[in-house]
This record gives sequence, C-alpha cells and structure tokens, in this order.
Amino acid sequence: VKRITTHTVQKMKAAGKKISMITAYDFSFASIFDAAGIDVILVGDSASNVMAGHETTLPITLDQMIYHASSVIRGAKRSLVVVDLPFGSYQSNSDIALASAIRIMKETGAHAIKLEGGEEVLESVKRIIGAGIPVMAHLGLTPQSIYKFGTYNVRAKEEAEAAKLRNDAKLLEEAGCFAVVLEKIPAALAKEVSEPLEIPTIGIGAGPHCDGQVLVMHDMLGINTEFKPRFLRQYLNLHEQITGAVQKYIADVKSNDFPSAAESY
Ligand code: KIV
Ligand code: NA
Repeated sequence: VKRITTHTVQKMKAAGKKISMITAYDFSFASIFDAAGIDVILVGDSASNVMAGHETTLPITLDQMIYHASSVIRGAKRSLVVVDLPFGSYQSNSDIALASAIRIMKETGAHAIKLEGGEEVLESVKRIIGAGIPVMAHLGLTPQSIYKFGTYNVRAKEEAEAAKLRNDAKLLEEAGCFAVVLEKIPAALAKEVSEPLEIPTIGIGAGPHCDGQVLVMHDMLGINTEFKPRFLRQYLNLHEQITGAVQKYIADVKSNDFPSAAESY
C-alpha cells in the first residue's frame, strides 16, 4: 500500500480532489477508517471530550496524546496520521513547542503535528518545520481558546477577525505549513481563504469550498447524540444500535439464553 503523505494532500488540492479526514484515538477504529480509505486520520485533542469525558480540550496531556497516537499509528497502514499538540504543550515558547512536537514524532511514529493559532504561534511553527516535522495549522474556532471566546459560536463574522484570519492563513502557508484546518467560520470567508492558498484547507463547519472536510468520529457515527451543531452530518446512530445490542445481551444473560450449549466447552 502506498502511504498518503503531506505531499499527496497538497497534490490533491492542485488536482481539485477533495481530502477526507476523520478523528481516531485508538487502534481498532484507526484500522477500520484506514481500510475504508480515509486520506487523513487526526488524533485530535477532542480525545479530551470524547475519550476522557472532559467538558473542554484543555485538560488532556501530552503523555495522553502520545498514548492515543501510538495506538492509532499501529492501525494506519495507508492514511496520513496527524496528531494535535495539546493545550499547554506549545504556547509558552518555541523551545517547549519544538520539544513537544519532537516527543510526538519520536514516541508515536506519527507523520505530522497540528496546533492552533496564527501569528501568535508562528515562531514555533517555523522552528517545528525547521526540525523536519510537518505542521497542519488550525484557525477559526480554536477550542483550546474557549475561555477567551466564551462560546463555541461561529468565529470571524466581524471584519476585524476575518482580516486577521486571512492574514494568519497566508503567514502559516509562508512558514511552510502543509495544510490548515478552518473550524466554524462563514462559508464565504472559507472560500476567500482557500482559493489563493496553495496548501489545502480542511473545513469543519466551514462550508463546501474548503479543499477537504474533517469530522470527529463520535459525532459522525452518532456515538454522541447530544452534540448536534448544524454543520454535523450524522452517518450512523451507533448510540441507538449499541444500546439495543447491549440490552439484548443483558436480556440473554438474565434469561439463561446465553451462553447456549454451542457456545460452551
Ligand atoms: O481535536 C479535533 O478533533 C480537531 C478537529 C475537530 C479539527 O481538532
Ligand atoms: Na483539536
């Protein structure tokens, strides 16, 4: 199998081919998504929410991200695997940022890192890329800054924030990022940002004009059922199906239906 690389996704944009990305946090789901043909697997710090049950992405640690990423990488034979730098592992200064990125690459075998922000993190981005580590950027609604924003509402509806986002995207491309996630911004702005960039934009709640799309696996598979933003397309209702399966199992145990003679030694 031919591995998808950061160069592959850049060529996909040039060829007008859309890029598919999904999150995964463990070996089993990564194996399924990889075999299904997904282009990029993101080990998102959304693990803090969907794996650990925290309210925000802030609590997850670099060690925990490394555990998830090293599990995912063993399941990904073909997909490009990108790992989020968690909150606190890069914001202090570029020495800390570089050390965190190196730990991810060294201890997980992943192919690239992702971090949130524009101009504020530019020096760190440059040093990480300078060390040979591909960087995916992330602009718009950046969940590690939730306490600055106050809500998970759509970002960059006002011109000042939109102008900063356009400029940040350009700076990140110039710094050598291979792609940029655009989260929860108006579709028109995402189009304006995507068109002049040579690197692909990957949207989540950013409309149809991005060069690719990403969804959190628990949201698109319907494992989470409370989280229903407008941008989410739910492809399965696993919550309902799993509940039914487990209830049937419980009933079979209680009624002595399970295990049968054929299921015994
Ligand atoms: O952590 C995550 O799942 C993400 C995606 C939503 C882009 O950063
Ligand atoms: Na993230």
